[in-house]
Amino acid sequence: MSSADKSDLSHGSQSLRPALEAIGKAMDQRFDRLLQVPADSRRPLFEAMRHAAIGGGKRMRPLLVVAACDLFHVDRERALRVAIAIECVHVYSLIHDDLPCMDDDDMRRGKPTVHKAFDEATAVLAGDSLQVLAFEILADEATHEDPFARIELVAELARASGPAGMAGGQMMDLVAEHEIYDLGGVTRLQQLKTGALIGFCLEAGAIMGRVPEAQRTPLRGYARDLGLAFQIADDLLDVEGSADNTGKAVGKDAAAGKATFVSLLGVERARTQAAMLIDQAITHLGGYGDEADLLRAIARFAIERDR
Ligand code: IPE
Ligand code: IPE
Ligand code: MG
Ligand code: MG
Ligand code: MG
Repeated sequence: MSSADKSDLSHGSQSLRPALEAIGKAMDQRFDRLLQVPADSRRPLFEAMRHAAIGGGKRMRPLLVVAACDLFHVDRERALRVAIAIECVHVYSLIHDDLPCMDDDDMRRGKPTVHKAFDEATAVLAGDSLQVLAFEILADEATHEDPFARIELVAELARASGPAGMAGGQMMDLVAEHEIYDLGGVTRLQQLKTGALIGFCLEAGAIMGRVPEAQRTPLRGYARDLGLAFQIADDLLDVEGSADNTGKAVGKDAAAGKATFVSLLGVERARTQAAMLIDQAITHLGGYGDEADLLRAIARFAIERDR
């Protein structure tokens, strides 16, 4: 990353747009280096991974990692390794989420989904490969000199991705098409499906900074409220957003009869709930000064976004 990119990723609520641009550029450059297409028959696998990972997405999770790492003065290059690891898992989750056996979507990040641009088998393998690439990156000494920190990162990301996290939430989400969930059920679904990976981003900052367990509570509270609000905003965009802005089909949740905050509360109350959660997320950061301004700005962006 150039020094100009670095200063753009510095603190301050006014700097969110440049910060998002800078992290986007940093992720694209790193994915480009990481996913060089080999001159053998694995070519389509790498091309599919590049199609999904390069040139799109808000990169909010990588920016959360960098913002959390900055609180504890973690080296920027190391923070970016963790940032790309979480983005690998996120992109994998999107590739599989879009498959015909799941949400059956044709568009993602303004482009054809991976199984449309390639085929289903390649999409499954591209997702699998991105998922394990994340753990390879975290386990590398270049991510942290302390093996205990690396093990903690690996264990936390595994927990956040698996049956007690994203994959478990995806299962609940599929069942939500024909099972009745109350507000508590939808909250748990969303905490697993979306909240767990967002939670990892903040936890990773604390792990990288070797922050003792007892001091992690505020960041965990912030992550929990942000994760929920972020998914409510996603569900609102499915009702009110446009495919042009979001880069993906809208109106899918209602068509599938899926239980979401919006289907249970209606648009207005869902929006109020998301705003309340974001206020609460920011309140959790009360013990931090302006070094947490980027986290505050990301929280506001999570519900004000139109994509
Ligand atoms: C979409 O995530 C899937 C959810 C968990 C709601 P994002 O809205 O972060 O998608 P990108 O990365 O910007 O494409
Ligand atoms: C997907 O949720 C969440 C994960 C990929 C873990 P959605 O199905 O609501 O995401 P979009 O709307 O397709 O991006
Ligand atoms: Mg889905
Ligand atoms: Mg989907
Ligand atoms: Mg959605």
